[in-house]
Amino acid sequence: MTVVVLLGVPGAGKGTQARVLAERLGVPHVATGDLFRAAVRDGSPVGLEARRYMERGQLVPDVITIRMLLDRLAQDDAADGVILDGFPRNRAQAETLDEALAARGSRVDLAVSIEVPPEELVRRLSGRWVCQDSGHVYNETTNPPREPGRCDLDGSVLVQRDDDKAETIRARLDLQLASLRDVMAYYRATGGLRQVDGVASIDDVTAAILAALADDTVGLADRW
Ligand code: AP5
Ligand code: MG
Repeated sequence: MTVVVLLGVPGAGKGTQARVLAERLGVPHVATGDLFRAAVRDGSPVGLEARRYMERGQLVPDVITIRMLLDRLAQDDAADGVILDGFPRNRAQAETLDEALAARGSRVDLAVSIEVPPEELVRRLSGRWVCQDSGHVYNETTNPPREPGRCDLDGSVLVQRDDDKAETIRARLDLQLASLRDVMAYYRATGGLRQVDGVASIDDVTAAILAALADDTVGLADRW
């Protein structure tokens, strides 16, 4: 299995990079935020519960998040691995992931933290547009679609996320930073954490992540 974890504050570029890496490595992009937004759209019990936390910028409780993630990992298309975006978000989630992978004789190959200073984030997130059908990510200034309001890839309508209002962006940053630091410390302790500069262009960030994955100690160069 190939298992890569992408870490970073809201707006760091996890979703943008995960999509490219998933294609390059031939494994699915699994984003707990996307799974929750799909559940909210469906009006399912998980969606109704998750929405209460998401709109306040808080983490959804582990009991809901972990079950949803484990169900997703059990699907056939994840048999060869995943690019994880937005999971794990705290130490309990990181430990559960390790246990679930160990049961399959596998482990996290590398956790990559995409580093972006806070002042850049509000600017990025207030200019973000995502496609309604598949969550493809755009930005008004740094990554615009060819036709305003339409996804380049599937033609669906571009919308802004409910939690990209300025006050919710600030709440997400304030409320989630401590647990992100815990997760980084968790992976740093095992030597499985790399940090890349997330302020560079989208292509340069991808190149930096691929270089980290190709590093001798990680040894994923033959996977793409
Ligand atoms: P989630 O969907 O994971 O949101 P997030 O972590 O806040 O991250 P974002 O999706 O906002 O940012 P991103 O890093 O993906 O950036 P993107 O690539 O879009 O989670 C949402 C909520 O769900 C959470 O708040 C929580 O409530 C809940 N949740 C999810 N997972 C959970 C879990 N495990 N446990 C508990 N609760 C959970 O890029 C941002 C913008 O910047 C875009 O416009 C993009 O085009 C642009 N951009 C990207 N890269 C660059 C670049 N290099 N240069 C210039 N612009 C760039
Ligand atoms: Mg995202």
